[in-house]
Amino acid sequence: MAAPLVDASDLTKDYGRVRALAGLTLRVIPGEIYGLLGPNGAGKTTTLRILSGLDTPTTGTVRVVGFDPVTQPVEVKRRIGYVAESAILYESLTPREYFEFVASTRKLDEKVVKRAATLADAFDLGSHYDVPIGALSLGTKQKISLIAAFLHSPPLLLLDEPLNGLDAKSGRILKELVLLHTENGGSVVFSTHIMEVAETMCTRIGILNAGRIAAEGTMGELRSLSGRKDSSLEELFLQLTDEEEDTAATIGRLREDARRGP
Ligand SMILES: Nc1ncnc2c1ncn2[C@@H]1O[C@H](COP(=O)(O)OP(=O)(O)OP(=O)(O)O)[C@@H](O)[C@H]1O
Ligand SMILES: [Mg+2]
Repeated sequence: MAAPLVDASDLTKDYGRVRALAGLTLRVIPGEIYGLLGPNGAGKTTTLRILSGLDTPTTGTVRVVGFDPVTQPVEVKRRIGYVAESAILYESLTPREYFEFVASTRKLDEKVVKRAATLADAFDLGSHYDVPIGALSLGTKQKISLIAAFLHSPPLLLLDEPLNGLDAKSGRILKELVLLHTENGGSVVFSTHIMEVAETMCTRIGILNAGRIAAEGTMGELRSLSGRKDSSLEELFLQLTDEEEDTAATIGRLREDARRGP
């Protein structure tokens, strides 16, 4: 079997008294599109930040594309494309300047600058290409973050809610870029709250709950885990994160309140 691009074992992460990760183990091999699902606060962003070397685990071991992001962050950053939950960009630069800057920091050549132009064209960035990033809309900033992550064709993409703010066409383009990336042997790990996206795109899905993977597998495997053959991913998700009864009770209360009136 091919060496995993992500190999993380027993990760814990404490922020003061908050335990964000509580023994998370994750392996992702080349060609996989791995979806991280989980309730707010489950640990998705923490996991992606640790894999990308932006944060360190409290305990546990991590290898990303064969390197340790804690001790070899430069080796890891060269081989990944990371998109943060909220775009971290230089707001005074234009997209053109920003891509040139990103290309220069990664010792990349002319071909990469050309790739930026191709990707910018795919995301309809045209009229925004020479406008300071600070003046651009949320979705346009997200496109810039995504392009920067794809720019150097890294083997591994780590995307935190990558569809955030994207319009329908851009979402479709992103999905295509992700598929092309994995068809060429790359891997993608991304978090999302959009069940339909996870269901249609992922080769495997990990459902995070309270800092650990509560369930993992293909859609078919998750269905057999839940014992329900016809469940939607939303139903499986609520069941596997123990939120099914709570959700039904909350909906019941809201309906009762609405029926009673003000
Ligand atoms: N810098 C920090 N300082 C303190 N606590 C933090 C910090 N970052 C994350 N946490 C806590 O760690 C836990 C996991 O947060 P994380 O952002 O990883 O969740 P998430 O699954 O990405 O949630 P969401 O779906 O809302 O994006 C939460 O309880 C959060 O409050
Ligand atoms: Mg998050």
